[in-house]
Amino acid sequence: MSSIFKPHITRMSAYAPPLEGRNPQQFTLLDFNERTIPVSEPIKQALVDFIRGDRLQMYPSYGDITERLADYCGVDAGQVMITNGSDQGIDLIVRAAAAAGDHAIIPGPSFAMYTQCAAVENLRVSEPGYTRSGGFPTAAVLASITEATRLIVIANPNNPSGTLVAREDILAVAAAAPQAAVLVDECYFEYTQATVADQLAAHENLVITRTFSKTWGLPSVRFGYVLSAADNIRALLNVRGPYDVNQLAIVAAQAALDNPAYTREYVREVMEQAKPLLEQYLDTAGIDYWPSGANYLWLFPQDVTVLSERLKEAGILVRPKADADGRPGLRVTIGTLDQTRQLVEVMKSTG
Ligand SMILES: Cc1ncc(COP(=O)(O)O)c(C=O)c1O
Repeated sequence: MSSIFKPHITRMSAYAPPLEGRNPQQFTLLDFNERTIPVSEPIKQALVDFIRGDRLQMYPSYGDITERLADYCGVDAGQVMITNGSDQGIDLIVRAAAAAGDHAIIPGPSFAMYTQCAAVENLRVSEPGYTRSGGFPTAAVLASITEATRLIVIANPNNPSGTLVAREDILAVAAAAPQAAVLVDECYFEYTQATVADQLAAHENLVITRTFSKTWGLPSVRFGYVLSAADNIRALLNVRGPYDVNQLAIVAAQAALDNPAYTREYVREVMEQAKPLLEQYLDTAGIDYWPSGANYLWLFPQDVTVLSERLKEAGILVRPKADADGRPGLRVTIGTLDQTRQLVEVMKSTG
């Protein structure tokens, strides 16, 4: 029987991350680039208070969250739109920018959501490759731009490679394709402090996605936001539903913004202590890895299967990710100093 749905949709496969068995009481979760320790008490308390306040029967209302985010990002409130995680921001931008048959440039390998959304819209996708030594393929991206290009994705930093993209390269791409939405994914912004949020007026085709899922430690409540020129935000609001962001997400994000120190302290420990420790071990052990600007490293040990099994036995989950040539690797989230010491110990004993 033929499907009631569009043929290209039925031919796709689902984006299905390996979520099963991820029990934080049983494992140290270094497999999803999450914050590896819980959020601070005031955030939990705000959620409990909200539930006890008997407002769950009401539709969400968003108060001043957009203004607070604008303040945090140094932009105008009209340049901000809240979303159900940055995944929703990515989906809305792709849907609003491009129609079936349009051309998109999505350098790879990268976060699966971009190509997933592009496939849903039936876009023609060019995928220039990141390289370990060359980083973001700026020249290939610029060379791929045509009049039919409606979307260009720049993950800064890229996932799984951790590659940082130079600011001047992002702006050169934006200038070279004024007809295209240039989606700059700043999901890991708090780790990198790298942003083009100050360029929204100069480059009106820049559309930035950000999230509370990483350093803020709130992927479970699904809260993200988009930054772009006010006209773009107005257009995107025509596509987003009025209640797509749930009220618990707003309560948690408000409490998080009231208590930013827990995030700053975590970022400091991960980036200034834990990450150098892991890098130092990898350098000493001669294990190849990509230079990363974020809280994860993409490494290529001799036997990926043996190492991931040994880590799992020791209570540590990591994520297998092969490179573009099919070479097996592991994407390892960096957690606290203690967690990283344990990781290194298991790696040392595996040899
Ligand atoms: C580059 C990148 N963008 C977006 C996301 C999704 O974030 P969110 O939880 O806000 O949807 C991830 C999650 O891993 C990611 O790595």
